[in-house]
Amino acid sequence: MDSLLVSKSGPLSGEVKIQGSKNAALPLLAASMLTVEQMRFSNLPDLRDTETMLALLRALGSVQKQESGSTELLIEKGRTSILAHPPDWLAQKMRGSFLIAGPLLAGPGYFQIAFPGGCPIGKREIDQHIKGFRAMGAEVISEARHLSGKAPAGGLRGAKIKLDTPSVTGTENLLMAATLAAGKTVISNAACEPEVVSLADCLVQMGAKITGQGTSQIVIEGKKTLSGTEYQIPPDRIEAGSYLIAAAGTGGAVSVLGVNPADLTRVLDHLAAVGAEIETTESSIRLNMRGKRPQACDLMTGPYPAFPTDLQPPFMALLAIAEGVSRIEERVFEDRLNHLPALRSMGADIILESNTCALVKGVKSLTGKAVKATDLRAAFGLIIAGLVAEGTTSISGLEHLDRGYQSPELKLTGLGAAIQRMAD
Ligand code: EPU
Repeated sequence: MDSLLVSKSGPLSGEVKIQGSKNAALPLLAASMLTVEQMRFSNLPDLRDTETMLALLRALGSVQKQESGSTELLIEKGRTSILAHPPDWLAQKMRGSFLIAGPLLAGPGYFQIAFPGGCPIGKREIDQHIKGFRAMGAEVISEARHLSGKAPAGGLRGAKIKLDTPSVTGTENLLMAATLAAGKTVISNAACEPEVVSLADCLVQMGAKITGQGTSQIVIEGKKTLSGTEYQIPPDRIEAGSYLIAAAGTGGAVSVLGVNPADLTRVLDHLAAVGAEIETTESSIRLNMRGKRPQACDLMTGPYPAFPTDLQPPFMALLAIAEGVSRIEERVFEDRLNHLPALRSMGADIILESNTCALVKGVKSLTGKAVKATDLRAAFGLIIAGLVAEGTTSISGLEHLDRGYQSPELKLTGLGAAIQRMAD
């Protein structure tokens, strides 16, 4: 397995172009199954998770064309008419694989899929997806390792669905299923994340009738068919936030390009609270820390527009070297403080108040160590810790990192970081 060698790096400086969003791309690719017409995507990130989704779709009959190295993808045929189910080993690679369930129920009317895998950050139930499918008339059966679903004779029926928790992929799955259901579906307590909005916008371009995306109530009038379209995958707000936090940790001055600053409002507020100067344009954010040590600040994650849980591990690494004591409360996943032991081994002074709440007493500096990433965002957090630590940090567990960050070592080297991937 590869590892990253990261050495203490002076203030990061320069510009970094942000990739297309992983978590927007996954449902958008799954949505290609809702039409028999061609779909064309641009700004597709080259990531393990997008590769997995494309492989899943191919296993279901999707025909795809992409030139090597290109971010443009043509899906010539997305919808399958066969009653197939994807190989378990593929489905179990990531949580996002379950996003094929909604389109399959709406199209062929059947799915069978292994329980999804994904980062080990909590229980990660799918009961809300199932509750919604059932409300639309589907029969959903859970077996030992698989979940299968069958639409009623005549297809899914529109329904009123109130989610108990605003699940992001749950909202996306139900939204996709509802576009081809008979009649009206109302999803309340829906997720408001920008990735839900981009999915809805693409579906509208495909001819779906959807209102309320971006609010907690989404209304869908089902259509008989949807058409193909061209869609640009929006920028990855989590990747952008990760580089800004890295810049702040090193006292640097970095611009992230090709982003939508409004998606990062709460993150920018927190970066300002630690002492960063922030300037935004329509499509870029510049952060300047002017060489200062970050100040402590409290953080509480939550569904959008609150501070994103995906940026909690990188922000914890930043607060580990801040002046003062910060309190971090993780309110989305019950097990997302797994990076604590690694940070502590590097000298971070962090006390757990509970499984989801940590007190971070900032120390002047960390010390490089050999550490292992336990999940995708924790991996980037450890990179930040390595950039600010004395000596060299060796990070293993890169299979997590590569699921969601495209060429992070190249992008960071471009900003002046001392970071190198070592092949095993
Ligand atoms: N939940 C339930 N029942 C459900 C669904 C969710 O109880 O049926 C709970 C979960 O256990 C969790 C909370 O609700 O405690 C939020 O889960 P959600 O379903 O919103 O998360 P997700 O859809 O599985 C997506 C992203 C995650 C991101 C979360 C929260 C994708 C493919 N994944 O996951 O991204 O952390 O939303 O914003 O979109 C990542 O990119 O590193 C990542 C983990």
